[in-house]
Amino acid sequence: MPNNVIVLGTQWGDEGKGKVADLLTTKANIVVRSQGGNNAGHTLVVGDKKVVVRLVPSGILHKECLCLIGSGVVVNPGALFEEIEELNRAGVESVESRIKISGAASLLLPIHPAIDKGAEKLRGKNAIGTTGRGIGPCYEDKVARRGVRVSDLYDMENFKVKLKALLDYRNFMLKNFYSEPEVSYESVLSYIESLRERILNMVADVSEIIAKGRREKQKILFEGAQGTFLDIDYGTYPYVTSSNTVAGGCVTGSGAGPLDIDYVLGIAKVYTTRVGGGPYPTELNDEVGEGIRKRGAEFGAVTGRPRRTGWYDAVAMRRAVTINSLTGLALMKMDVLDGMDEVKICTAYKMPDGSIRQLPPLSAHEYEGITPVYESMPGWKESTFGVTKWEDLPVNAQNYIRRLEELSGAKVAILSTGPERDQTIYLDDPFAD
Ligand code: GDP
Ligand code: IMO
Ligand code: MG
Repeated sequence: MPNNVIVLGTQWGDEGKGKVADLLTTKANIVVRSQGGNNAGHTLVVGDKKVVVRLVPSGILHKECLCLIGSGVVVNPGALFEEIEELNRAGVESVESRIKISGAASLLLPIHPAIDKGAEKLRGKNAIGTTGRGIGPCYEDKVARRGVRVSDLYDMENFKVKLKALLDYRNFMLKNFYSEPEVSYESVLSYIESLRERILNMVADVSEIIAKGRREKQKILFEGAQGTFLDIDYGTYPYVTSSNTVAGGCVTGSGAGPLDIDYVLGIAKVYTTRVGGGPYPTELNDEVGEGIRKRGAEFGAVTGRPRRTGWYDAVAMRRAVTINSLTGLALMKMDVLDGMDEVKICTAYKMPDGSIRQLPPLSAHEYEGITPVYESMPGWKESTFGVTKWEDLPVNAQNYIRRLEELSGAKVAILSTGPERDQTIYLDDPFAD
């Protein structure tokens, strides 16, 4: 029986992971975030209420659900407490007592957004287009073994020594390399001291909670952030985020064992979007793309930036299927393509030398000169908004979905026809026997 299910993005983020994670949490006892930080923005819509969670796992709206933040997450404590206040104000019950954080998670400090912004400025026209939340610099400090972690807060004398060394190093860069104002040690220390007790009250052994949940046959949902092509190894490097967004990242970043995953659900829109810079073969810089942006309300949940839009990319999806061991697909935002004369699917990439590729390259520079090979299908004029049964979809919409399935090589488990929970067609239940 599938008990441990991963939900992750298979494109460039914003696929609708929040909606799916929230939906599946009606069955889950525990929801875990394993990577990323408050660069994520997962939208949950219940009735006329819309909540965007950034660091808090999407299970939070279900009042029995335990929400875990694993070792792979970079935690900005101020942002976390702001988010908790927002959820409290929205009437969500016992928010803080249901969130547990791994002591091994990295602390994202006020110096990190400062470095992030300085680095982006220096990159000029080659800017990555980060969210400016300091995610990359915080992971840099982690990997360089000079970062501070949540459990360091138990011993403040030691913490102060580590913090001083970190800020000396980072301020030297800020001042001399990025020509930006420094962030004082005293200000960071007093900020951390004011939140310390509250953070420590939330610390738990996340890996052991997951192991115990597994032994007790509880349902556990691993909620990915960002998407496969923003992965630090397999994305369009260097136009990526700084964590492993693929299924493997859910394991290392939570402390679950690799064989404890029973089902991997990949989330994709029936078209594509991307925020920030980097290669995007199927991008539409025309009125068709503009129409998709408008109908799909494609503006960033975190930064409000307009998202770039384009056709569905089956080449990229083929890679996502194997890299993530996808068991099934959730295809989102079906309704956004309503009313179009034709819909296109990219089935292969044509390289500048005329050769044809079935799989995407591994680095941004290898995308230069790629032209997408398209297959065109007739669109549908009827509305699919809110449809809940497969049989009620227009035949052309059914044919489009079946073709996406065929080209991608993964079965469609969920089809979404609107932002709300009940605007969903279930073809397979990831938690079912
Ligand atoms: P996430 O980061 O993957 O959780 O996705 P975001 O929340 O950033 O962006 C997805 C957006 O699409 C949100 O505003 C959702 O409310 C919305 N959404 C999700 N599914 C559907 C759908 O089937 N149709 C429409 N029209 N909107 C949807
Ligand atoms: P969710 O979880 C879409 C993008 C940024 C930028 C790149 C690096 O909501 O899908 P970073 O701040 O992480 O260093 O930025 O990654 N990015 C996202 N794009 N959805 C996200 O999260 C993203 N998180 C980061 O736009 O291109
Ligand atoms: Mg998002």
